[in-house]
Amino acid sequence: MPDEQTERRVGRLARWPRLQALHALIRRTLIPAERTMHRLRLQRADELLQPWPVTAPDRHPALFALAAERLAGTAEPRILSFGCSTGEEPITLARYLPQARIDGLDINPRNVAEARRKVAAAGLTRITIAEAGSPPTGPALYDAVFCLSVLRHGELDAYQPERCTAILPFRRFAETVAALDLVLKPGGYLFLWGCNFRFADTATATDYDPVPTPAMALQDGVFYGPDDLRLPIAFTREFVFRKRGGKGQDAGSGW
Ligand SMILES: C[S@@+](CC[C@H](N)C(=O)[O-])C[C@H]1O[C@@H](n2cnc3c(N)ncnc32)[C@H](O)[C@@H]1O
Repeated sequence: MPDEQTERRVGRLARWPRLQALHALIRRTLIPAERTMHRLRLQRADELLQPWPVTAPDRHPALFALAAERLAGTAEPRILSFGCSTGEEPITLARYLPQARIDGLDINPRNVAEARRKVAAAGLTRITIAEAGSPPTGPALYDAVFCLSVLRHGELDAYQPERCTAILPFRRFAETVAALDLVLKPGGYLFLWGCNFRFADTATATDYDPVPTPAMALQDGVFYGPDDLRLPIAFTREFVFRKRGGKGQDAGSGW
């Protein structure tokens, strides 16, 4: 990564719109992580969702605590962290759910390499990290699926265009949640914090009930509907969902 002084100098260029292309080129030249993201944008545009790898340890304590509470009675829960970035999310999940087996997936090979290093350094043998640009296929084996700050795009937040089509269309959101649904067990939990879309607008949502999250602040941001048009809303309160079926079914609140 470049030092702070280089970041500041390069950052100043971005204040002038006509210099933004030059700014992006300089960043790609100086910052290996930006080069990888640029390559993903060119070569895997059909798969790439949120390109930015921003993450942090214990980023959403209330969500992780909720998962720990809901899965406390499951002997060896299986958890998917889709878009796990540099590994902080699966590592945090392992702290909250030490009995779990956790699979972390990310499309970005640099993130995957770093995540593997961190997991190995922490000695967490129940976590596996793999490179993938789409949810796994196969049986519904996960008790919880985390897809946090992945079904969004920094440019939608920054520029808030009227339509999201050119940056990240609703169709990609709907397809991804449908694919995640296929690997989630009945009765399992889908954590969708940080999306630019509402789960309730998808066909997949008809099989789910929202789980109240009183300990978690509402999620604000810019939101788009199934027609790709910006919605006149500034936040959502629904970002955890339980798939109907399975044992110990809650009375669903429905939509
Ligand atoms: C903002 S980070 C979120 C990291 C973590 N989930 C969190 O909330 O802290 C978004 C991550 O999604 C990954 N990503 C984007 N598109 C993806 C795709 N199609 N498949 C898997 N990972 C993807 C990016 O590489 C990036 O690491």
